Amino acid sequence: MKRGPEPTAAAAVDARRLIVALDVATVEAASALVSSLKGTVTNFKVGWELFCAAGPAAVAAVVEAGGRVFLDLKFHDIPNTVAAAVVAATGHGAFMLNVHASGGRRMMEAAVDAARAASEACGRARPLVVAVTLLTSLGEDELRRDLGVADSPLAVVTRLARLAQAAGCDGVVASAREAAAVRAACGAGFTIVCPGIRPAGAATADQRRTATPAEAIAAGADYIVVGRPVTQAPDPRAAARGIIEQMGVRPT
Ligand code: C5P
Repeated sequence: MKRGPEPTAAAAVDARRLIVALDVATVEAASALVSSLKGTVTNFKVGWELFCAAGPAAVAAVVEAGGRVFLDLKFHDIPNTVAAAVVAATGHGAFMLNVHASGGRRMMEAAVDAARAASEACGRARPLVVAVTLLTSLGEDELRRDLGVADSPLAVVTRLARLAQAAGCDGVVASAREAAAVRAACGAGFTIVCPGIRPAGAATADQRRTATPAEAIAAGADYIVVGRPVTQAPDPRAAARGIIEQMGVRPT
């Protein structure tokens, strides 16, 4: 396909704060999205749907097309198993991967150590290791009623973010509603990734703790993750450009 104009340096850096979730079932569908977004979106998320269907080939396809991959497999297991999974994931060339903070401090430490050792061994840059605090699909009522957690999402997320930082993680995944509190608790330089982003007026679907792109950036998100509002749009490129505009970045 024809490439669009090259982004300017400043716009390229800022527009890279958008990560588009490739929640599709085949490498072909993922590659079609990546090429339709070429020149507008650089960062893509490969999660459970695509990874279970296509495996590491999905990551390779995005990287070959010039994209960067956030491997969103949310590891949550005993430290030894998570460390082994992180070693394998690091070899796939993702720039960021994640674990569940609720796996505990030792599990997160094992993940960070494994990412460091594996990247040194294979001569790649170490992927950022970020910890999922609370899924953005969980609302306060479910937290209390179903999971028996009396604390508010804000309190839980802030506590887990502090734990993730103490364990050596580079940042967390949290909803934009908690981003400012995480920034205050963990300081500058701690990466905050916010899914559950919905452009004003878009359907929330299964997400609960949502925010608009502008709200997420204002709250301190380093990256926003957007799936269906882009992937299910009639014109994904136009949808991505609209989101980048709403982030306050000049689209390329
Ligand atoms: O389609 P939508 O924009 O809701 O997609 C959000 C993406 O972010 C999904 O791929 C989902 O797995 C992921 N995610 C999330 N909440 C988290 C972590 C990841 O929604 N806490």
